[in-house]
Amino acid sequence: MAPILQRHDMAMSAIAAYDGGMRDIETILVLTGAGISAESGLATFRGPDGLWEGHRVEEICTPQALARNPALVQNFYDMRRAALARVVPNAAHHALARLDAEWPGELLIVTQNVDDLHERAGARRMLHMHGELKSALCRECGGRVRWEGTLADGPACPLCGGKGGLRPDIVFFGEMPYQMERIEEALAGADLFVSIGTSGAVYPAAGFVQTARYHGAQTLELNLDPSAGSHFFHESRVGPAGLLVPEWVGDMLGDRVTDAG
Ligand code: APR
Repeated sequence: MAPILQRHDMAMSAIAAYDGGMRDIETILVLTGAGISAESGLATFRGPDGLWEGHRVEEICTPQALARNPALVQNFYDMRRAALARVVPNAAHHALARLDAEWPGELLIVTQNVDDLHERAGARRMLHMHGELKSALCRECGGRVRWEGTLADGPACPLCGGKGGLRPDIVFFGEMPYQMERIEEALAGADLFVSIGTSGAVYPAAGFVQTARYHGAQTLELNLDPSAGSHFFHESRVGPAGLLVPEWVGDMLGDRVTDAG
């Protein structure tokens, strides 16, 4: 097996070929959205039959909606949590987990998704900026607990015992995304920013490409359709993540160079 250093050099030559510039890529920041989980059978938000098709965002995904109609909101997220048991990670999730395991430089996967498919594929260098379906947040003690079951029936908080205080640990519209400081740091230090399966409709994530470019990063988009922010990227590849992501990861890890070896 080729020593890490050598493989890294191979990856570099692949990158040089890709952007035509002699630019060293050590630090990669990957942003993912609902599109990366579409081929696993999870609905996106704004596509045909998207999650927001049947619901108005204001009715479901705001703190006001939770206060106004807790049963509707809690049932919506209970349904999505239960659906996770019926899906598995796809080739794109597995490819990113491979990159996580084999990339010798810095890597951070920032997902807007609240599903657990990245982790189930084995990704570790990652964070959920919009929360997780399998986590509950207690409005009484502020604590977070891993959660597999339902919340609509108002279970007691395992930490403080408070009843009815648990809500989905999801960042609602109007709330601050999680770990923004860490994300800003990673954006400032990225040599390569890659966006996968997101429409570029929701900020602050939709602005990451501009921030990364401002700090000098190369930027690449992998998406089924051109997104609202495609024109900000150095390169935008159109197609299903299940094909584009394994191909891109293979390039980064020098598969083609090794094969040509
Ligand atoms: N492969 C690659 N991209 C895909 C695929 C696929 N198989 N299927 C769909 N896409 C792309 C669509 O072209 C679209 O651009 O994924 C994108 C999904 O966009 P949205 O449904 O808007 O989801 P996302 O961008 O993740 O939404 C951002 O909005 O509703 C909030 O908090 C929620 O995190 C979410 C945020």
